[in-house]
This record gives sequence, structure tokens and C-alpha cells, in this order.
Amino acid sequence: MSNESPSITIQPLQKSFGAVVTGVRLTELDDNRFDEIYQAWLKYALLIFPEQHLSDEDQTSFARRFGNLIEGLEAAEISNVLADGSMRDAPDDDMMKIIRGNLHWHQDNTYMPIQAKGAVFSAKVVPKAQGDTAFADMRAAWDALDETTRDRLSCLSAHHSLARSQKALGEETKSKDSEYMGYGLIVEDIPRRPLLKIHPETGRKTLAVGRHAFGVTGLSQEESASLLDKLIEFSASDDRRCYQHRWTQGDVVVWDNRCLMHRGCAWDYSEPRVMLHSRIAGDPMTESAEQA
Ligand SMILES: [Fe+2]
Repeated sequence: MSNESPSITIQPLQKSFGAVVTGVRLTELDDNRFDEIYQAWLKYALLIFPEQHLSDEDQTSFARRFGNLIEGLEAAEISNVLADGSMRDAPDDDMMKIIRGNLHWHQDNTYMPIQAKGAVFSAKVVPKAQGDTAFADMRAAWDALDETTRDRLSCLSAHHSLARSQKALGEETKSKDSEYMGYGLIVEDIPRRPLLKIHPETGRKTLAVGRHAFGVTGLSQEESASLLDKLIEFSASDDRRCYQHRWTQGDVVVWDNRCLMHRGCAWDYSEPRVMLHSRIAGDPMTESAEQA
């Protein structure tokens, strides 16, 4: 007999997306229960599981049920603590540059040949205050655009580059052998992606923008930057389509990177914040960049 709790509760947030899931242990999911969670994930795009306290191995196993994981990001610590326990306080610390860069709205791996499908993210050590993660529903953002704008955007694409977006923020990685491994910083062919993305599993239309996007096809640099800034602002300015999660140690979330933007929120960097990130690989059939 399964020792799994039968009383799973999926409580939607009072938003256009997101739900809190309780009454379940992520280490003890049979296939039926996982399928229920997966279907809820497609519907809500963000699931929040409080009080899970997963080990790195448990989180990796749970994340693998959503798909293959990206090599090197199976269980990556996003942290301002060095291996010896001291804090990363050097202004030119490469990990802090990425952490600060990711305080701006983005989708993961749009700057790679294949965009990520999603991520499992959990809190190991949380600061006393702040350090939240915010999410924006890009399905609802698309739906909220007026028809003329939707028609215009549906013919446009943008290029995506992590190196460029970091540089634009003054957070460029200087060293080739950075401890951040240079992941995503050196990409031979800069990917180009449509501003309108069709979600491969739900068929929902979603707006695909974020800090890595630049160089919209057919527009000048200024027009492109202005359009992209406006679209990000539009997506992130409506409280009904945005949710900011205040972390409690042991929380686990899983987000759909194909239809949400996300960003970190700053905290007092003299306090430790240790998060564990498992990045789910996108399907090459549907998450590949456009062919040149
Ligand atoms: Fe991210």
C-alpha cells in the first residue's frame, strides 16, 4: 500500500497563473500522482510546494520526471556563499554578476540554440528579508495586448544573447576561465526567436521577450529597444499577471519557462542565500531558435 497522502490540494493563486500544492511528498509520487501534477503544471505554469526540504538527489530525480536536464545544471547552486563558507563580496565576482543580471525579467536559455522547458527551484538558505523570485504570465500578457499590436508582433522576431544583456547592465564577465564556466556567454550563432510563441503542449499563445532579447527584425536598434522595453514593462506591470514568491526554507517551485518570465529580487548580499536550480531541457522540435 502506498504511504502517499491521498489529500493533495492544488490551490490556485488569485492570479492568472500559479498554484500552491500541498498534501503531497515529491519524493513519493507514483505515476498517476505525477501525471496529475504535470497536468496542473501545464494549466497553472507555476506550482509551489511548501515544506519539501529536498536533498540535491531528490530534487534532481523530481526534475527529471519533467524531461531531460541540461548538462551541468542538474542541481546547480545559485548562491552568494563561496565553498569555504565566506561571502562573495568582490564587486567583480562572476557569479554575483549573473545574479545581479537575473534581477531583470528573462526566460532561461533563450540565448542558447534550444530554450529551456522549465526549472525546479528550491530554497536551501534564505535571507531574513527579500531575495524573492518574481514571475510574469506571458500567456495572459499576450491575451491582454490589443489586436493591432498582436498582429504586428506575430510577424516579428528578436535575437537573444546573454553576453550582450550582461554587458548592457555593466555586468560583463571579463575572464575566459570564469568560475561561472562561461555558460551561455559564448554562443556561435546568436539565436533568433519569434515574439509570439505557441506553447507546444497547450497551444496557448505567449509573448516571448525578456532581457536577453535585442535586435528585432526590420527595426532600428532604437525602435527595437523601445518596443522590447515597452513589452516587458507591459507584461510586468499588471498585478493580476505577476506573482512574487517570498521564500521559506524548504520551498520547491517548478515553472514553465515556455510561457513565464521570471526574475530574482535583490537582498542584503552580506546575508547568505542558497538556492538549488535544476534546469529542464527544451524539446528541440519546439524550443529551437528560428533557422536563419
Ligand atoms: Fe533565470
